[in-house]
Amino acid sequence: MPPPQKKRWESMAKGLVLGALFTSFLLLLYSYAVPPLHPDLPSTTPEGTPSCSPAPDESETTAAATNGSWSANGSSPGGCRPRRDIVFMKTHKTASSTLLNILFRFGQKHGLKFAFPSGRNDFAYPAFFARRLVQGYRPGACFNIICNHMRFHYDEVRGLVAPGAAFITVLRDPARLFESSFHYFGSVVPSTWRRLRGRADKLAAFLREPHRYYDPRGLNAHYLRNLLFFDLGYDSGLDPRSPRVQEHILEVERRFHLVLLQEYFDESLVLLKELLCWQLEDVLYFRLNARRAPAAPRLSAELYRRATAWNVLDARLYRHFNASFWRRVDAFGRERMRREVAALRRANERMRRICIDGGRAVDAAAIRDAALQPWQPLGAKSILGYNLKQSIGRRHAQLCRRMLTPEIQYLMDLGVNLWVTRLWKAVRDFLQW
Ligand SMILES: *[C@@H]1O[C@H](CO)[C@@H](O)[C@H](O)[C@H]1NC(C)=O
Ligand SMILES: *[C@@H]1O[C@H](CO)[C@@H](O)[C@H](O)[C@H]1NC(C)=O
Repeated sequence: MPPPQKKRWESMAKGLVLGALFTSFLLLLYSYAVPPLHPDLPSTTPEGTPSCSPAPDESETTAAATNGSWSANGSSPGGCRPRRDIVFMKTHKTASSTLLNILFRFGQKHGLKFAFPSGRNDFAYPAFFARRLVQGYRPGACFNIICNHMRFHYDEVRGLVAPGAAFITVLRDPARLFESSFHYFGSVVPSTWRRLRGRADKLAAFLREPHRYYDPRGLNAHYLRNLLFFDLGYDSGLDPRSPRVQEHILEVERRFHLVLLQEYFDESLVLLKELLCWQLEDVLYFRLNARRAPAAPRLSAELYRRATAWNVLDARLYRHFNASFWRRVDAFGRERMRREVAALRRANERMRRICIDGGRAVDAAAIRDAALQPWQPLGAKSILGYNLKQSIGRRHAQLCRRMLTPEIQYLMDLGVNLWVTRLWKAVRDFLQW
């Protein structure tokens, strides 16, 4: 039964106030901790400060790296050596949590050094990344993997990893991404949410008259337009006719060795496995942080078109990388891709039968183990999670648990101090939000 109208408004108001308070609290906190940054300014690290100097044996490996294609230089059967230095630019609402789990597992298995944030699970997002935000950072410090949410700042990131590190990111059809972001983050964009009050279908109302509801200077407004452009460190409010749009897209292409696509996630993982010279087991996954299928149908054709037009910078970005993705698949071999995707799906399916109680994702309320409870958006328990099977053989017990552990708990397992995140969770638990 739906809650009475009054109660709903009350809790929505509570959520708005809380969301706004918390965000301002964080902004305040970080405006003390981090000097404002701008992408056009030089990086915060002065010239001459040593950047990451990899250990000798590592630099030898990376010397073989040339323009993103790594040539044979090692030991493994494929004639390549598994890459261990990875920058994953984690975009929002793009299946990136699933990829994060893959990276956590690989790093943990090989004892790699992660560049983690301190206090929370992102690098002061939506502020730009700065290397001083990395837990335990000292000039010259060198890390294997960076993968938490950030607003990308290439020069700051580059100096933290070996020169041959692989840069990867993931994109998603911007209309779908917008829909997801709107549902997940809408309520923390008070300027928009206030104006949408009382609309039965907020998404449709917004997309029919976005300029009426959208305030580009409003708190958290970046979540509601060209979020990919924003996360990648660019101005998400650029005039689409500006030549800078295309320049930025080409810059992403130069900087990233692989751009994965959420819609073709398995194909993406096959390309990733190839790029990094990893094993099939390294890229096994269960979908994490997925939203319950909404009661309402997905975007209508009209709203899809509107959402694409509203996020036109992201749409251009996506179109560019969708095209290059398929050229890459052609180069890899279509038939070979089909075989490898089938192998990956079979292996995932096998793990599903081994690990997951009931064989599928369930609502938050049905998750028994708090360690497997996913983080929920404000005001809705819409993110699904899993139950681990009671009896799993010794051989798979650890892998199963790691594959099913949500981001926040995994970060804590890896020793990240998450006091801000945990404080926020305690407040929400207390208010039953
Ligand atoms: C760069 O990559 C291309 C193929 O992608 C290769 O033909 C070329 O030799 C590489 N450049 C260097 C310097 O190795
Ligand atoms: C991506 O490209 C493929 C192949 O050209 C095309 O079939 C598909 O519709 C594109 N996807 C999107 C979401 O535009």
